[in-house]
Amino acid sequence: MTEPRADRRTFLGWLAAGLGLVALAEFVWVGLSFLRPRRRADAATDTLVVCGPVDDFAPGSVTAFPAGLFYLARLEDGGFLALCRECTHLGCTVPWSQTDGRFVCPCHASTFAITGEVLGPPATRPLDVMPVRIENGIVKVDTRGRSRRTAFRPDQVVRA
Ligand code: FES
Repeated sequence: MTEPRADRRTFLGWLAAGLGLVALAEFVWVGLSFLRPRRRADAATDTLVVCGPVDDFAPGSVTAFPAGLFYLARLEDGGFLALCRECTHLGCTVPWSQTDGRFVCPCHASTFAITGEVLGPPATRPLDVMPVRIENGIVKVDTRGRSRRTAFRPDQVVRA
């Protein structure tokens, strides 16, 4: 017959092992959650971004829409382009420089025109674009429809 003290010790040993396994499982789960890539939809849950009335955007202006991960560029001729903010070199976020009148990548200094065309390497292709719609004078951008392009073409521009 075993002593009650030994039974208690065995029980506490099993309890400690069980709690250790639960803690290990939780640690692994949290670690995997950090490693799992975020879906784009997490950053922009509503895929159609309503930017605002056409007249709110001056010709020659660039407006950032951080939630949608794009810039709305209004060209001097009044046309619109939605430009993805990811550099086509290695994916850094490219800020618009109002002073320089161009996008300047902070990582390796690629530069892009207001149309997204490459002005300076190492990037070799223009910023990606998203579809722009103008409905009843309101500019909307569909963030699901991102497309790569090899060059800027005038038919990519949407006019009111
Ligand atoms: S990531 Fe923009 S130039 Fe390299």
